[in-house]
Amino acid sequence: MRILVIGGAGYIGSHVAREFLDRGYNVTVLDNLSSGTRRNLFEEAAFQYGDIMQPLQLREIMADGYDGCVHLAALKAAGESMIKPEAYARMNIAGTINILNAALSAGIPNMIFSSSAAIFGSPRYLPIDEEHSKNPENFYGFTKLEIERMMEWYDRLKGLKYASIRYFNAAGYDVQGRIQGLEMKPENLLPIVMETAAGVREGMKVFGDDYPTRDGTCIRDYVHVSDLAAAHVTAFEYLVEKKESLAVNLGSETGVTVQEMIQRAREITRQNIPAVVSGRRPGDPAELVASSKKARKLLEWQPRYSDLDTLIDSTWQVYRSNFSVT
Ligand code: UFG
Repeated sequence: MRILVIGGAGYIGSHVAREFLDRGYNVTVLDNLSSGTRRNLFEEAAFQYGDIMQPLQLREIMADGYDGCVHLAALKAAGESMIKPEAYARMNIAGTINILNAALSAGIPNMIFSSSAAIFGSPRYLPIDEEHSKNPENFYGFTKLEIERMMEWYDRLKGLKYASIRYFNAAGYDVQGRIQGLEMKPENLLPIVMETAAGVREGMKVFGDDYPTRDGTCIRDYVHVSDLAAAHVTAFEYLVEKKESLAVNLGSETGVTVQEMIQRAREITRQNIPAVVSGRRPGDPAELVASSKKARKLLEWQPRYSDLDTLIDSTWQVYRSNFSVT
């Protein structure tokens, strides 16, 4: 089976490509290397330099014939999306339309889409299951929701089957150390904690400690990228076998506070990690935790690496080696 991974040189995309390779698939990575890196490419996978904003080029590449396409090419900084909505509309919405149309013209029958918990907005109840109302509070979440809705129509009208996989907080690195690329200018908590541990940053901020949580800092559901990646493969197999689209929430179903993350990282890395409490970051809900019952049931998904220690340790190994921390 041939799989095209669009955005496969990125942090999550490279783990997805790795998982398909490990399961014996023939993988091609398509990426414009704007945020992804050649360091995340694998010898066993073909590489096509390409841009989702170039529909003709996309069509040519996709015409090669694939059984499925995984789409992870997007802008993903929720805060930035509120300042530059036009960039997010272009890349995330128009870019996906280019991909969907190219898939239709190339006769690619299955699409795996990288969606986000951001489609739900502030939780009305916890844990967040698939039935939860969808009211994104940032433009990034809106783009992901629009694409999900677009895919529903493409399925209905053209029979293009899709799996929307809604990530909660993706974290961790391949535990075998096969992926070593770092994200430039990270905005997410764990990479920032790691850069601080590695001494690349002098210190970090904790955005607010007056939330109604056990230690006053925000609770998030961190899920290992290799666990997310495994779900992409089983979702593809589900589409092939059942010929039925699906949308699933993927998280570890466990909440971790910002302070708990930092404290455990201090213990595991044996580094100082100076952190000062600053004001709240606008748009941060107090708590986000997934229900992944549906993925467990339909995809027989079982997180293997999403415990806090594996998340931190697998990430630290990569940062430690990149920054030569002894
Ligand atoms: N945080 C800090 N200091 C930092 C960075 C983050 O205290 O320097 C806190 C945030 O305030 C938040 C928590 O750490 O409470 C996690 O923040 P992230 O930025 O790592 O992640 P978010 O929960 O804000 O967002 C992530 C993805 C989004 C996605 C969302 C879905 O980045 O793309 O999860 O749950 F939409």
